[in-house]
Amino acid sequence: MTVQTIQPADLEAILGEPVSERLKQRLAEFDLRFTEITPQERDQYILEAVRALVNPEIKVAGEHRIGDWERGWGENFDIFCKTGNPDAAVPLYFGKHPIVRWRRRWVRPVSESFDYRIICLLVEYAMERYMKDAAGIYEFGCGPGYHLLRARKINPTARLVGLDWTTASQKILNGMAASGIDPNLEGRNFDFYHPDETLEFLPNSVAYSVAALEQVGPRHEEFIQFMLRKKPELVVHFEPIDEVLEKDDLHDQLSVLYSNKRNYLRGYLPRLEELEREGRLTIHRKQRVHSGSFFIEGHSLIVWSPNR
Ligand SMILES: C[S@@+](CC[C@H](N)C(=O)[O-])C[C@H]1O[C@@H](n2cnc3c(N)ncnc32)[C@H](O)[C@@H]1O
Repeated sequence: MTVQTIQPADLEAILGEPVSERLKQRLAEFDLRFTEITPQERDQYILEAVRALVNPEIKVAGEHRIGDWERGWGENFDIFCKTGNPDAAVPLYFGKHPIVRWRRRWVRPVSESFDYRIICLLVEYAMERYMKDAAGIYEFGCGPGYHLLRARKINPTARLVGLDWTTASQKILNGMAASGIDPNLEGRNFDFYHPDETLEFLPNSVAYSVAALEQVGPRHEEFIQFMLRKKPELVVHFEPIDEVLEKDDLHDQLSVLYSNKRNYLRGYLPRLEELEREGRLTIHRKQRVHSGSFFIEGHSLIVWSPNR
């Protein structure tokens, strides 16, 4: 099988605009190589995806999962305590499946950590595009905070705030701040279901989330209303958004069905659109980015701002 490499032109095609020289350099460092799968393999993988859809043991997201997340990020915290290494912030769930979604098909990564690297690239693209001059950068559902740590390379002065409902997340972030890895970094407790009214954004701040709001299923109203009250300059999401995928496409609909099976985010974009019609907010971007894990294209890009 011929090995292909993701090129700057691929990134520009999925994002719909030119990318910076820095991002092209990052892409070259990440060296994202893959091969195509055969039609027979595709059939096997469709079967695997369908079996997952009817598997009663698959865990669903929701309020009851906080213990699982505490345990998961607790493992990252233990690694950080032992090593003091900021790489301890990288989640242990990447690279679980040998196949990923890329530009409307499944491909087989050759490079290590392909799925981890591609989401890092996409998030760095959004940081360059929307957060480079922000005074505050707030990541909601940040987990161990590995994206936030990379924001510093793009914005040297912003206050970086990582918010998550697990206390393990705050231990990691505040541990990193205290150990001098980034003194202008803070971990704060935040629950999408019960937003913390004492949180105030610094003027000129950007809020973002990556595969985190996904966890609330249909319960996103509290978060939206919170943002409308607190008014950050901009809100950027990389989340699963059913509405930007194609209704009559098998590969896309396997993603949508899996997302629903896991009780991931749903109805979010239609609700933002409704509020936009009411004049409460403005949506600047809504698009798929054609990359994802085996089961789900979970990183569609939405950018919006509360109206003032
Ligand atoms: C799939 S992880 C994503 C973590 C990180 N954003 C990333 O990109 O790797 C989902 C995150 O959402 C957090 N989360 C889940 N439900 C939440 C809630 N109700 N409030 C705040 N955070 C929540 C979890 O603790 C976890 O850190």
